[in-house]
Amino acid sequence: MTITYVFLALFLSSDIGIIPHVESLGINYGQVANNLPEPDKVLELLSTLRLTKTRIYDTNPQILSSFANSNIEIIVTVENEVLSQLDDPQQALQWVSSHIIPYLPETKITGIQVGNEVFTDDDDTLLQHLVPAVVNIHNALSRLGYSNIQVSTPSSLAVLQNSYPPSAGSFKSEINGIMFQFLNFLSTTRTPFWINAYPYFAYEDDPSTIPLDYVLGNNPNAGMVDPYTKLHYDNMLYAMVDAVYFAIAKMGFRNIEVRVSETGWPSKGDPNEVGASPQNAATYNRNLIRKQMANEGTPLTPRMRLEVYLFALFNEDMKPGPTSERNYGLFQPNESMTYNVGLFVSTIPKSTSTPTSTSTQTSTSTSTSTSSASFFVTSSSTKTKVKP
Ligand SMILES: *[C@@H]1O[C@H](CO)[C@@H](O)[C@H](O)[C@H]1NC(C)=O
Repeated sequence: MTITYVFLALFLSSDIGIIPHVESLGINYGQVANNLPEPDKVLELLSTLRLTKTRIYDTNPQILSSFANSNIEIIVTVENEVLSQLDDPQQALQWVSSHIIPYLPETKITGIQVGNEVFTDDDDTLLQHLVPAVVNIHNALSRLGYSNIQVSTPSSLAVLQNSYPPSAGSFKSEINGIMFQFLNFLSTTRTPFWINAYPYFAYEDDPSTIPLDYVLGNNPNAGMVDPYTKLHYDNMLYAMVDAVYFAIAKMGFRNIEVRVSETGWPSKGDPNEVGASPQNAATYNRNLIRKQMANEGTPLTPRMRLEVYLFALFNEDMKPGPTSERNYGLFQPNESMTYNVGLFVSTIPKSTSTPTSTSTQTSTSTSTSTSSASFFVTSSSTKTKVKP
């Protein structure tokens, strides 16, 4: 084991003295690269990081086999290209039988994402297949005795017509029909809605108006107050998630949990990609990890820990598009850190110290910042980009 391995859990120890029991955040394990370590090495890396949740963008047999008998919970993805075949219940049953069942129960497959950002895909014939595919896969799993595996799909924030202020969140009218059917499925099966949410895109589009501290989630910052709910937001990610809650509520559903399937920040970009830097990436992810370790929820759902999957584990050299696309990884393909995300090298010192007074320094209390300094992000923050 090399010394480049690091631990997430330590980040907290200096802040509050003790390491509370926390649920692991998740990390996306993208593989659009030709130089990534073998899956068994990746498994070692994940367990060294004490991460127990990951998602892959396919049903890679080598990964699913390698992760057998580990404590890693894995979410797999049905590729967009396969969706149209799954209109047919028989084909869906066959897909589940050949792609999922062989790895159960040794590999902890906890979810199946049917397609990726299908609601906003350039190919607009794709969307009609989504709900039938989701339903057919769910039914196939139930029939085979695995109804506990959750079936959903991750959406781009571009499914929203409005995202500012959060209480104005609403879906684009042209997808409302299928969105209603999809939400109905989620509600009936008690399955979460997953959103890919990148404050970086909003900042990059409008760096002169949107405060960097707010998108990075630095504390303290004035943030913004939703004029209707009076809720205070000190980071844009939570505002994005709550906008999705409001959009869902406007469709008549109030019992669907919103989770973040992807969020992250690029450590490198083209000259016009303002904000892409190792410093900002480290800060964004560090702030997020800190909030995750405090089991935080959003202002709208403060008692429910927001489930988040970071994007991504590795830089992916074969991703098309601007430079930023290839530089979201916490790690280089050779498993060295891209930047220090506040993870520490070496083993976790079993802290026996009593809780210290330093805990007050990390308070995210917002009660002192409700003055007129509240910042209103312009409506251009609703403009989101679809990741290619
Ligand atoms: C890992 O890869 C990065 C980026 O290519 C490079 O800068 C670094 O020196 C490499 N580290 C090791 C230990 O090979």
